[in-house]
Amino acid sequence: MLRKLCTLAMLIACLQANAQLNKEVKMNQFITALMQKMTLEEKIGQLNLPSVGFDVTGPILSQGVEDKIKKGLVGGVFNTYTPVAVRKLQDIAVNETRLKIPLLFGYDVIHGHRTIFPIPLGLSATWDPKLVERTARAAADEATADGLNWAYSPMVDIARDPRWGRVSEGAGEDPWLGSQMARAMVKGYQGTDYVHDNTLLACVKHFALYGAAEAGRDYNTVDMSRVKMYNEYLPPYKAAIDAGVATVMTSFNEIDGIPATANKWLLTDLLRKQWGFKGMIVTDYTAINEMMAHGMGDAKKVGELSLNAGVDMDMVGEIFLNYGADLVKSGKVSQAVIDAACRRVLEQKYKLGLFDDPYRYVNEARNKTAIMNAEKILLSKEAAIKSMVLLKNANQALPLNAAKKIAFIGPLVKDQRNLIGNWSGAGDYKKAVSIWAALEQKFGADKFLYAKGCNLVDDAGLRKRLNDHDGQIVPDEKTPDQLIAEAVQTAQQADVVVAVLGEAFGMTGEAASRSMIGLLDNQVELLKALKKTGKPIVLVLMNGRPLTLSWEDQNMEAILETWFGGTQAGPAIADVLFGEANPSGKLSMTFPRNVGQVPIYYNAKNTGRPYDENQKYTSKYLDVPNSPLYPFGHGLSYTTFGYGDIKLSKTSITPADKLQVTVNVTNTGNVEGEETVQLYIRDLVGSITRPVKQLRRFEKVTLKKGESREVSFTLTVEDLKFFNSDLKWVAEPGDFHVFVGTNSQEVKQAAFSLK
Ligand code: BGC
Repeated sequence: MLRKLCTLAMLIACLQANAQLNKEVKMNQFITALMQKMTLEEKIGQLNLPSVGFDVTGPILSQGVEDKIKKGLVGGVFNTYTPVAVRKLQDIAVNETRLKIPLLFGYDVIHGHRTIFPIPLGLSATWDPKLVERTARAAADEATADGLNWAYSPMVDIARDPRWGRVSEGAGEDPWLGSQMARAMVKGYQGTDYVHDNTLLACVKHFALYGAAEAGRDYNTVDMSRVKMYNEYLPPYKAAIDAGVATVMTSFNEIDGIPATANKWLLTDLLRKQWGFKGMIVTDYTAINEMMAHGMGDAKKVGELSLNAGVDMDMVGEIFLNYGADLVKSGKVSQAVIDAACRRVLEQKYKLGLFDDPYRYVNEARNKTAIMNAEKILLSKEAAIKSMVLLKNANQALPLNAAKKIAFIGPLVKDQRNLIGNWSGAGDYKKAVSIWAALEQKFGADKFLYAKGCNLVDDAGLRKRLNDHDGQIVPDEKTPDQLIAEAVQTAQQADVVVAVLGEAFGMTGEAASRSMIGLLDNQVELLKALKKTGKPIVLVLMNGRPLTLSWEDQNMEAILETWFGGTQAGPAIADVLFGEANPSGKLSMTFPRNVGQVPIYYNAKNTGRPYDENQKYTSKYLDVPNSPLYPFGHGLSYTTFGYGDIKLSKTSITPADKLQVTVNVTNTGNVEGEETVQLYIRDLVGSITRPVKQLRRFEKVTLKKGESREVSFTLTVEDLKFFNSDLKWVAEPGDFHVFVGTNSQEVKQAAFSLK
């Protein structure tokens, strides 16, 4: 029977492989035939990706784009969406060009398209890849109903420096968690092979190591050893490739002294040859042109370098368009290189079904039903709730008791603009529900006290920089002193104060690095004045990076991190504050005590002189402990969880064995709650130094009050492997520790060995 089943399974697999092969053969024949008709200029045109902005009535064509499309000199555009706008451009491509090749339509669909979900850093704090996949699925459903077929997401850059504004766009510091998120998002966007017209091409970015910019300053230099690269920074990109991501975006930074966009080792040897990537490589925005400032040569030279490195599409810079043909004619770039790049662009179009139906993603009817429908709004609220991290909760300050007198204070209480965060271009902040609106919906008007307390940003220079990019921060007519006085008066009438503070959305994202990462001075002044009233203060934070919160941790009763929670941030926060939802998010990035500790991350090396407070010559600071304020994996709940000791199925394993790691987890508090049980390992001795902890598994469990559950993880030798100094993926025999716990610091420990 088993044999018969096996043969049947093999037969099915064989048929599937065959069908796949046939599909590919057909695609190749089609593209070969098409390319035979193409001139060199038309082939190079396919590599050109201009940005075409638009207003509500249709696209605003940047200089000459319409003309270029007509001449077959554009392969795709980005920043154009809505069925009307997309149809207008696609019409030109398929009706007015010689070969009628349809365009790709790309966009920065980052954390939702019209319905906005929490920023990616917040999504990663859910530690819930299935939920994250659903948000990407929903984003793809909306984006494709809006004419798009290519999303510039996921960003999977590992980030250990919270000064870098773009930490908000990724999944934090851990390669293993980051890989789960990368896979989930690729699956969510791409679905299964574009069988349905509501899935699109994903684009993993920024390849590679962009998150390691020196000093956290955007676009800055990166320099890194290969072992660090392979073990700590590359895994999430690789996970996206293995999940079948269609496209890869190069990063702005250099690697080994060569900008990523001209780095042949990176794009061809590693990505294509070692990892087997068959999709399309696009540059980041004018990344080729920027290589002139990097000092790589003139426009023609940088074009040559990037084509020969393996780039397929030139975003905005038009270097390929302007110099490609000359480079071929002068023999600097071979015809074969252009052909290969052109083929890879055409393949994506073919796979999307654009040659069968160029208007496949222009669906006015679906545009009416898919965008911001009830299901997506619900998902937005669910994701916002699950992303929140309860950083501190002394004396059970939270959840709030609605029977008490509560004062909501802060410039973000009634704010809508900032809720949807950065990279939410197609999102309409006016559709985001503020905390105040959610409270009114829930409890009726006039239930709570309110005062603005301070401006979101008082510093005129910073405010200008933010407002130049749609910050919309309008200083209050009242002076800062008046605002504070009013807030103090309001607080005095209350039993408890909820202060809603944080960053403006523009203080995170691209080109938004900060050298100090605390709350702004004027906000801290407000908190200090409120503190003097003696009322307990619950601090609700909206921000896009780990902040330094040492003073706040000492002086606030509770701190709830809500990131920029998206369209439904307000209702989600209201539910959590009043205990209708129990927070369960866990940090995916360490919160330092002060900025001097940065870069700080849990999976660090031990060093030869590990931290010892009482020994002078150990690796430490004189003025602050090494430990962070809130470690990776940290996040409280309205209940508490107790962990039993670790039980191992064996204490010694061979490479063929499986190791069962079991713990008993009990809800020891008073309400139902969800815990993320985290498993870490440590390889005690290695041929290269190994991190003190590495995340290898996690599982979310929901437990009723008093309920216990055995949580069991299976480890194999694969989980013990790393890249050694020859960059070989190996597990070395020896002793290991395994840790299970509620965050990366509070853990139970056991030991085993690998024979
Ligand atoms: C960013 C990318 C983005 C691209 C297109 C660049 O400046 O680095 O993440 O996808 O612009 O908007």
